[in-house]
Amino acid sequence: MRLPGSLWRNIHGRGVPSRYLANMAANRPCHVTVLGEEYPTDHMTNISPTIVSKLPLKLHTQPSHPLSTLRALIESHFPSYAHLSSLSPLVTPYQNFDLLSFPADHPGRSVTDSYYVNKDLMLRTHTSAHEVEVFGRGETKWLLTADVYRRDEIDGSHYPVFHQTEGARIVSANSAGMKEIEEDNERLAAHLERSSIEIEDVPHLSPMNPCQPAHDPKHTELIAKNLKLSLNSLMLHLFGGRVGATAQNPLKVRWIEATFPWTTPSFEVEVFFRGKWLEILGCGVIYQPTLDNANVSDKLGWAFGLGLERIAMVLYSIPDIRLFWSQDPRFLSQFKQGEITTFKPYSKYPACFKDVSFWLPEGQTLHENDFCDLVRDIAGDVVEDVKLASLIDDFTHPKTNRKSLCYRINYRSMDSRSLSNDEANSLNTQVVSCLRDRFRVVIR
Ligand code: DAH
Repeated sequence: MRLPGSLWRNIHGRGVPSRYLANMAANRPCHVTVLGEEYPTDHMTNISPTIVSKLPLKLHTQPSHPLSTLRALIESHFPSYAHLSSLSPLVTPYQNFDLLSFPADHPGRSVTDSYYVNKDLMLRTHTSAHEVEVFGRGETKWLLTADVYRRDEIDGSHYPVFHQTEGARIVSANSAGMKEIEEDNERLAAHLERSSIEIEDVPHLSPMNPCQPAHDPKHTELIAKNLKLSLNSLMLHLFGGRVGATAQNPLKVRWIEATFPWTTPSFEVEVFFRGKWLEILGCGVIYQPTLDNANVSDKLGWAFGLGLERIAMVLYSIPDIRLFWSQDPRFLSQFKQGEITTFKPYSKYPACFKDVSFWLPEGQTLHENDFCDLVRDIAGDVVEDVKLASLIDDFTHPKTNRKSLCYRINYRSMDSRSLSNDEANSLNTQVVSCLRDRFRVVIR
């Protein structure tokens, strides 16, 4: 199971293109309107009305919103960096994947994992999609915050839209560039030495996490050190004051080796917060072909990407990821720009479960993400979670070869009023009829 804003490796291995596209083709309009522009559709189109409605909202720029405060807090830690937050979520698969050296068969490319307007245009799945473009504009130290989109299951910590901040720094690959990094390393190390932080480190380079052929290992060591010092001090800035870190009880940060197609060596960072290790970000020394693609081959540097919702959920004690999208004044009026305060829960309305049990036509598959998008399009944020009730019911009939599935949908209103059983029934009836139309299922 993935957490919001979780790192790329966690979505590996889930993308089996389902046959539903053939069924959908018949119902597909020729055009879709996205952010006021019309685009032709094709066999890859899977962007849904619910998702289209989220594109203009940009929660990370809405004053007082927790995600906006968190963005500003990160930006305040890197005052000399360019701060970008208004790039369009529409990118080409080439920008999102190819320019970052993703392999051609990477599962993240599949229609079950990502949202496509058509085969040439998609919603960015991560802020790294803008790296080449931003380096290409000549930026050398920058932060970029944006909404990102991944198809997913539905529950309290997963939402198909979340927010990330990407950060990067590149310097000239010569003695002047290295001197700049060395001086910065000394300054950062002195600051961290005076602070209550305990760091569990891994070597900058290892056989599994090697130096790139294009790089001098001494340069890579300095860059990796600068990356680690910069991010350790960011962790202190975000979490230090909040865990009340003291000499006896320091903030604990740990580094883990990782793999990303566009960085080597690569790492992940976790922070120990309220009794748990929390996965915070992915990062690494930028793969030189990425910088070549941006026409800055004479530079080298580091990049990181972190998910905002997960951090905001723990800093503000926000228990459900849907709350970030709430228009309820009981949510929004609790927050002030620049202040991190503990969320005060207001009364939770009762949940209402409905089971949907059906037979799939022979040979037909139904990806869980397709089911979840269908439910979200009908019920919006009134759906709290969707679970495959596999223990109850998930089997293939030995004679007819038809597959039977049962999903349990939990409907619950988060905003302003209780959801009646009649309303939940009516939503569920719409889910059932849409399932019949789109996937030709037989309800049991
Ligand atoms: N884009 C990655 C994700 O969404 C996070 C990430 C990892 C960003 C490594 C980076 C990086 O810039 O170097 O999971």
